[in-house]
Amino acid sequence: MLDDAATYAAEFLERLPERPVAPTATAEELRKELGGPLPEGPRQPQMVVAELARAADPGIMATPGGRFFGFVVGGSLPAALAADWLTSAWDQNAGLYAAAPAASVVEEVCGAWLLELFGLPEQVSYGLVTGCQMANFTALAAARHSVLEAAGWDVEADGLIGSPPIRIIVGEERHVTIDRALRFLGLGTANLRTVPADAQGRMRADALKDALAESSGPTIVCAQAGNVNTGAVDPLRAICDATHEAGAWVHVDGAFGMWAATSPTLRHLTEGIEHADSWATDAHKWLNVPYDCGLVFCAHPVAHRAAMGSHASYLVHSEDRERDELDWNPDFSRRARGFPVYAALRSLGRSGVADLVDRCCAHARRFAEALTQEPGIEVHNDVVLNQVLVRFLDPGGDHDTRAVVKAVQEEGTCWLGGTTWQGKAAMRISVSNWSTTAEDVDRSVAAILHAAN
Ligand SMILES: Cc1ncc(COP(=O)(O)O)c(C=O)c1O
Repeated sequence: MLDDAATYAAEFLERLPERPVAPTATAEELRKELGGPLPEGPRQPQMVVAELARAADPGIMATPGGRFFGFVVGGSLPAALAADWLTSAWDQNAGLYAAAPAASVVEEVCGAWLLELFGLPEQVSYGLVTGCQMANFTALAAARHSVLEAAGWDVEADGLIGSPPIRIIVGEERHVTIDRALRFLGLGTANLRTVPADAQGRMRADALKDALAESSGPTIVCAQAGNVNTGAVDPLRAICDATHEAGAWVHVDGAFGMWAATSPTLRHLTEGIEHADSWATDAHKWLNVPYDCGLVFCAHPVAHRAAMGSHASYLVHSEDRERDELDWNPDFSRRARGFPVYAALRSLGRSGVADLVDRCCAHARRFAEALTQEPGIEVHNDVVLNQVLVRFLDPGGDHDTRAVVKAVQEEGTCWLGGTTWQGKAAMRISVSNWSTTAEDVDRSVAAILHAAN
């Protein structure tokens, strides 16, 4: 049956370059094929897998292929995908060293390699979580612990009722998962102090200084590396300096933009990132491991562990000699998602990671250059990273960018999404896949121009 599954998977991957990127089935058709009453009894497993592979196929978006440019979605590197299969076969519960020693050691190795890649100090603690949403949550839980501890309050013991208020300062262009993490943490979103952004969506460091000067007390600043629309990175050094002068904690949400730090040609964009107190990013985006895997880092391991750690009498804790993963992330039982990360890093090496990031950015520039050669098409952002915002103009003023996006999606050569940037509709192209080629970009440009015309 596993051989069958490998055959179905290989067939899917081999057809990726030519199949339409968008699914071809409607939700109704998928329900008809996949649904029905709860089976009364067993069915032969091999048939179940064969039927699932056949029935799900028309509803599969070709996200691992080279012409998916929606949201910010990476593909799967071959070594990472194969290691992910092994992860399922091994079925380790990677919460404690005692239950899954290899998983624990592999996460330890990945943590050290990642710190080096990102240029973060070696004492920084880390966790592998489900995505950047939970990385933001974990980092902000450590921040909450730390700023309240400094105010003489033990939030893990006493909760938030009656605690000193925490001032949260965020950029105007923060990602929605920051707000969601703050909600999960009981900090709410109604009283956020929002700092204005510049035309590319970067937090204005001068305005942050003004915000910090307004009052004092426990304070957390949320900065960003990689605006989800433009790819722009906040001025991290200035933000870290100003925040630390005010005695506050600075968190960087770098879901994809943090990977700029791994490239010698792009690292300047993240200058000063190593001075932050916590960082959140994703491996399932730009490192191209299969879903799901986010990464959290914290410059204050004691605060990180105080916020996440957990002990119970029936568990076998390793007393600090080995890594118990449940001390560093919000899960208890969890997938051993370090294996695919390890395989990705080991197969690429330092130069391979930089090359992956650089290549995606070069493809983004290729998109921008090709599209802007056409009259009536404008690129609305500085293409500093892997994100391109495109507008379709019309002398009559009635050209509908959203209609072009929809037509491209339906035609199927490639898939990309729409957004609103500074009050105007835009097509949003994100190049985040190791397998995208210049030819994929050229085919996609042709499809976009065809749809626009
Ligand atoms: C800047 C930023 N932060 C956080 C996230 C959330 O990441 P995830 O979907 O992995 O939870 C994203 C996703 O696109 C993002 O771009």
